[in-house]
Amino acid sequence: MSDVLTGELAALRGQFPVLSREVNGHPLVYLDSSNTSLKPLAVLDAMNEHDRVRTANVARALHTLGAEATAAFEEGREAVAGLLGARSDEVVFTKNASEALNLAAHSLGSNLGPGDDVVISVMEHHSNIVPWQLLCERTGATLKWFDITDEGRLDLSNMGELITERTKIVSLTYVSNVLGTVNPIRQIADAAHAVGALMVVDAAQAVPHMPVDVSRLGADLVAFTGHKMCGPSGIGVLWGRYDLLASLPPFLGGGEMIEVVKMSGSTFAAPPHRFEAGTGACEYRFP
Ligand SMILES: Cc1ncc(COP(=O)(O)O)c(C=O)c1O
Repeated sequence: MSDVLTGELAALRGQFPVLSREVNGHPLVYLDSSNTSLKPLAVLDAMNEHDRVRTANVARALHTLGAEATAAFEEGREAVAGLLGARSDEVVFTKNASEALNLAAHSLGSNLGPGDDVVISVMEHHSNIVPWQLLCERTGATLKWFDITDEGRLDLSNMGELITERTKIVSLTYVSNVLGTVNPIRQIADAAHAVGALMVVDAAQAVPHMPVDVSRLGADLVAFTGHKMCGPSGIGVLWGRYDLLASLPPFLGGGEMIEVVKMSGSTFAAPPHRFEAGTGACEYRFP
């Protein structure tokens, strides 16, 4: 290995303080990033700085610290929107990808009933299976799934039988967390849209590793999670087309997701705040 490479690697390793640890007498080698990634100094410092000098309840504290925290939170939303080629009011903060997918299943489910199909695949992480199972149990809709080929690819040979006029939702992983397979989302989204179905994408393993431009992906909703992309734990994202988000009912009820609350009933805020009940993890403004 050249000295330059050794120097660059050392500098890169230096960005991740946990790599200065030794395990079993050896420098730590961390190969579990697809499970959860290490946090670099920039992230640790931003989190630390926030809690040291700017602690306040985002969007609910009118004092100086609250205004700063809210501005930093909304800057974080803009940064995520920029990463996805999206509008910032299409970026909903959740606590992780699982919550984003549960939000999608819950809110889309208000239109589902017996005779409707939801299509997933056997390649999914549990977070993109169980919410749809629960939804189908609740609504009487039927869950169907793509199989995989011997080479570990999505078996699209029966796509015409799986995605039909009965299909209301197709929800697939973009990149498999087990196989690394990259699925042809655009092709499947086009088939879903051709029968009037919505396309949900679990991009938890995609956004950290490849450019994901939602204007070209063909998806209606996209879920991912901060802790797999060097970000803080406890924050995730559901991106959605604005007109779709605006048509959906809330997922969780609570502070800051409302427009007007009366004892006789409540009306709800516009997206993205409609889907962000209660105090969330702070999205930190990174240097
Ligand atoms: C493809 C995929 N989807 C969803 C998740 C769930 O992510 P989280 O635990 O952050 O909700 C994971 C985590 O391993 C994943 O790999």
